Amino acid sequence: MNELRQASDRAVMTEVVLPGVVEPAGLQIRQRPVPAPGPGQVLLVMEAAGISFAEQQMRRGKYFDQPPFPFTPGYDVVGTVADVGPGGDAALVGRRFAALTKTGGWASHLLVPAADLVEVPAGVDPAEAETLVVNGITATQMLHRVARVRAGQTVLVLGANGGVGSTLVQLARRAGARVIGTASLRHQEAVRELGAVPIDYRTHDLGAEVRKIAPDGVDAVFDHIGGEGIITSFGLLAPGGTLVSYGTASTRDIEGSAKWPVLKVVGRLQLWNALPNGRHAHFFNIWAGKRRAGAFRARLRADLTEVLTLLADGAITPQVAARVPLSRAAEAMTLAESGTVTGKVVLVPDTAGEGDHGGLGESLA
Ligand SMILES: NC(=O)c1ccc[n+]([C@@H]2O[C@H](COP(=O)([O-])OP(=O)(O)OC[C@H]3O[C@@H](n4cnc5c(N)ncnc54)[C@H](OP(=O)(O)O)[C@@H]3O)[C@@H](O)[C@H]2O)c1
Repeated sequence: MNELRQASDRAVMTEVVLPGVVEPAGLQIRQRPVPAPGPGQVLLVMEAAGISFAEQQMRRGKYFDQPPFPFTPGYDVVGTVADVGPGGDAALVGRRFAALTKTGGWASHLLVPAADLVEVPAGVDPAEAETLVVNGITATQMLHRVARVRAGQTVLVLGANGGVGSTLVQLARRAGARVIGTASLRHQEAVRELGAVPIDYRTHDLGAEVRKIAPDGVDAVFDHIGGEGIITSFGLLAPGGTLVSYGTASTRDIEGSAKWPVLKVVGRLQLWNALPNGRHAHFFNIWAGKRRAGAFRARLRADLTEVLTLLADGAITPQVAARVPLSRAAEAMTLAESGTVTGKVVLVPDTAGEGDHGGLGESLA
């Protein structure tokens, strides 16, 4: 038995629990014995777990297919394997992997199917790698598998300062595209530094501003806002262009069904796609095709590996907004929802001096 396994056998784990529809302060911290992995599973010791927009929706009961309360949130994670289940590959122990979990990542230890692990290149900081798991997969698949953006094209990225948006901007620039990015005033400079032409969507008419830069329209729009604004997004496409819708952020705070806003957008897109208007419209869902598990995992592994390799090579810059200890998830969530951050707020393990972490500002990356 190796040292990591011995340590985890003795350990008590910490996890964050979302008990129901609550404010961030209502998140609970729970401790329990570290579980043993079953067949096909590994025990991962968390080194970094992301706070995504999905958790902002989940705490409001507004994520499309969230599990029933209570549950541990955490869409993605980077960690080191401490143990493998019966018959598992012992060579995995001690190595660092990323995993897309949808839930469960906000924990010091978690069980993950071994088949879902994607190796993190040596020397890459776990929190930096973490910012590119769900964000990197989403951005690269939308860019290259859905919109098929090519050099010389112009694309519009809504929310260009966000986790997915800041990754999209960088990948699109690498692909040789000109990028227009929307963000509120305080994020304009950060978006410019990423390589996009920023537009303040809050104080300016988005359509008019985009037309000034691209009078014939753009080749792709990446829209996570949804709602009625999706009509503007589709209208900004050049002939042959593609609208990729991938969320309904504008409906986060509207009470009611979690599913209806998405279904409404999907219906609209299907109609636009069917009409002979020379433009394309798709809804991207990172979980599409999951039933064909082998092909799904192979695609995800290939795409995430490519993004993590770009990170290791210094070809893209990770956007770590802050590193916050796991037991302070409530503060981390409040920060993520504050509208003040560029990139991703990342939860990291509690240090030896648990419960005495100083001000949150000290955790800022
Ligand atoms: N379909 C999929 O498979 C999939 C996968 C991953 C993520 N997503 C979606 O991707 C989106 C981004 O996720 P994330 O984790 O990157 O979020 P994030 O880091 O919180 O970024 C969200 C961005 O959206 C902007 N924003 C938020 N609410 C807005 C509103 N009502 N109107 C205009 N802009 C708004 C924010 O900009 P300001 O602060 O400047 O307002 C921010 O830049 C979410 O909607 C999420 O659900 C979908």
